[in-house]
Amino acid sequence: MKCLNDYRMAINGTELVPIMIGGMGVDISNTDLALVAARLGGIGHISDAMSPTVTDRRYKTSFVKNKVKLYKHTVGQTDKSEVQFDLAHIASAQAIHVTKTMDQKQGDGLIYINVMEKLGMNNPKMTLQVRMKSAMDAGIDGITLSAGLHLGSMALVQDHPRFRDVHFGIIVSSVRALHLFLRKNKILNRLPDYIIVEGPLAGGHLGFGIDDWQNYDIYSLTAEVSNWVKEQELDIPVIAAGGIFTGTDAVSAIETGAAGVQVATRFTITKECGLPDDVKQEYVKTDKDNIEVNTISPTGYPMRMLKNSPTICKGIKPNCESFGYLLDSKGRCAYIDAYNVQVAAHPGQKKIKVCDKTCLCTAMRKFECWTCGANAYRLKDTTHQGDDGSYQLPSAEHVFNDYLYSTDHQIALP
Ligand SMILES: Cc1cc2nc3c(=O)[nH]c(=O)nc-3n(C[C@H](O)[C@H](O)[C@H](O)COP(=O)(O)O)c2cc1C
Repeated sequence: MKCLNDYRMAINGTELVPIMIGGMGVDISNTDLALVAARLGGIGHISDAMSPTVTDRRYKTSFVKNKVKLYKHTVGQTDKSEVQFDLAHIASAQAIHVTKTMDQKQGDGLIYINVMEKLGMNNPKMTLQVRMKSAMDAGIDGITLSAGLHLGSMALVQDHPRFRDVHFGIIVSSVRALHLFLRKNKILNRLPDYIIVEGPLAGGHLGFGIDDWQNYDIYSLTAEVSNWVKEQELDIPVIAAGGIFTGTDAVSAIETGAAGVQVATRFTITKECGLPDDVKQEYVKTDKDNIEVNTISPTGYPMRMLKNSPTICKGIKPNCESFGYLLDSKGRCAYIDAYNVQVAAHPGQKKIKVCDKTCLCTAMRKFECWTCGANAYRLKDTTHQGDDGSYQLPSAEHVFNDYLYSTDHQIALP
């Protein structure tokens, strides 16, 4: 019987163990988690979501404090167009975040950064360019373009000296999106080095509609995308993501045409993962009926999360002076609009509830939006429960090796 370790995946000439730990913002797939994947010969991701905030917390910088000082006067205003990021600050936060990670890298694996287009940061083009360039300067091995179509993203860094050396990958949920991406980028004479096909059981934002995600499955999507890639006579590895919970699932994905898998939910409860330990316990103990796909993300994408996520219906004041990562090119965010509707409907009321959208920057920064894959309810089967009711947190190495060596859907307990 085959196990995942029987396979290797090649990305741009580098032979790798076919496991990628997916990008999980904000700082959930952190440096420590990415380092384990690289040490074991696979690929780890850090995320560039809110990197100024992340470096403040980890490396005692003051990016958030300095931004807030500049924009105190816009607190309470609906129009946030003035609340701009300082591009030099973004560059230096990203440089710190990436350098501190890459300096510690060991082993034959790689570390990529997950870059979401939906983080418009009130100046989508320039802020994205700075984030990508700075990560490339700081020695990142690859950039995974996510949460968006990224039709112009690669062109933003085409003059960078590492443009042909850094690996680029795109996350898609359909052949259509991939076709569009390749057509728009043809002019660059540089293909992506890998394609991640993300199915509807993934954590984070979904590339499907709120009413149709149930109609898709990762194995059919993987077969569809990899067949299409072959038909186009392209030699690009396709990596399957979303709902791959055991090594046997991973082998099935490879048998349907994938070169490797991207996995995330199983790693959310590992010791190295950036979530606080009490939140990891919430993930591991969750039941199936506590997991929902909803539309509270201001990005407009459906998102899967635990129903007891503290951010749901919280109704806090928009926090764009500190964060503002989801502001579009006009300084708008759907949460601000939803918040203002509730304020107008409840005049004089100090505490209001906003249930149709959430302040996602604040929620992710405070680990109060518990996004997860559809299989999170199975996490309790991957570890031991102690006499006090709490669960043992496995190491990332244990989970990585379980994916590699398990057969017949067996899960090795830590
Ligand atoms: C907690 C969590 C946060 C995530 N955040 C992101 C993100 O910031 N960007 C992204 O592209 N994907 C994100 N994802 C999706 C994963 O990278 C991955 O593709 C997917 O969850 C794999 O499916 P699995 O969780 O069933 O293994 C997230 C997933 C989880 C569980």
